[in-house]
Amino acid sequence: MNLTLSVIKADIGGYVGHSSSHPDVLDKAEKCIAAAKKSGLLIDYHVTRCGDDLQLIMTHQHGENDEKIHNLAWDTFVACTNIAKKLKLHGAGQDMLADAFSGNVKGMGPGVAEMEFKERDAETIIIFMADKTASGAWNLPLYKIFADPFNTIGLVIAGNMHGGFSFEVHDVKESKKIVFNAPEEIYDMLVFLGAPSRYAVKAVYHRESGEIAAVSSTQRLSLMAGRYVGKDDPVCIVRSQGQFPAVGEVLEPFAHPNIVEGWMRGSHHGPLMPVAVRESNPTRFDGPPRVIAAGFQLSGGKLVGPLDMFDDPAFNNARQQANDIADILRSLGPFEPHRLPLEEMEYTTMPQVMKKLQGRFENI
Ligand code: F6R
Ligand code: MG
Ligand code: MG
Repeated sequence: MNLTLSVIKADIGGYVGHSSSHPDVLDKAEKCIAAAKKSGLLIDYHVTRCGDDLQLIMTHQHGENDEKIHNLAWDTFVACTNIAKKLKLHGAGQDMLADAFSGNVKGMGPGVAEMEFKERDAETIIIFMADKTASGAWNLPLYKIFADPFNTIGLVIAGNMHGGFSFEVHDVKESKKIVFNAPEEIYDMLVFLGAPSRYAVKAVYHRESGEIAAVSSTQRLSLMAGRYVGKDDPVCIVRSQGQFPAVGEVLEPFAHPNIVEGWMRGSHHGPLMPVAVRESNPTRFDGPPRVIAAGFQLSGGKLVGPLDMFDDPAFNNARQQANDIADILRSLGPFEPHRLPLEEMEYTTMPQVMKKLQGRFENI
């Protein structure tokens, strides 16, 4: 059967500050989505959060970009925003860039990752969700999972993966896309993937079967809004096992913290710390950025799970390393490379300061 898995997320208000989500907001989302399941629109759902981001994980048979599904997500975010406003949560409705729904939540603020596929006999899915970072954060892990034999031994020794994967890469500033074939085009591809603030992996496909293997949200909130409105806090769906990398190969890149942009005021580099859902409360300097992983088996579209994949002592060293990296970067204070380069900062006073000092600059 053809199944669609939709993950639609938004920051509709933080508790406390931007660190976490209020239980009343999660309850409201649960009620809205449960009603949609009861009405038959959804096969199944799971509502969760990563930091201050509300995550709606939904299975259905209406395909990608379906108006009814997107409308459900939008209405749920509106209902939750009302709760957030009542509680005076911080930044209530911050990702709701439009006043009213107009057919598709893309471009309206919320982040979206959706894939349609035929459910396999055993359909293993890992959904990554991050807070305090931008959509390019998935470039490095997706490269490792689907193109790096030092991470994914299956690329070398599993016959059903040896043919490689193709990567759809989006230029998020120019709204262009290109497809690269791994392994033979990895040198060309890495020229782009190494610049994650501009180029982001949107999707990955199994080359021999053409099957979708992974999809991410690549919306850049600041580009949509034309101003700072919070980080993208992206999500990414990965299919696993069989012709796709095994669960352990999918999780392995997170054993060493990737350094991503985001953190305090969306204007810093920091380590991406893999944590259990209950630990996704970025508090220190509003961070460091977090990633959670929800694992499911699908059964006739039912979401069997989640298993909280990073709730495992095997990731303690990654968390320790992330804290060590955080200490080192924090010691730099307002200096690069902790602080982002001028053109990437979400918060800046440069125009005002420049204006004030204009008359004092002399030619040298
Ligand atoms: C980063 C983030 C926070 C805020 C910071 C200031 O993505 O959400 O670090 O940027 O707490 O928040 P405001 O401007 O809402 O007071
Ligand atoms: Mg927030
Ligand atoms: Mg957030």
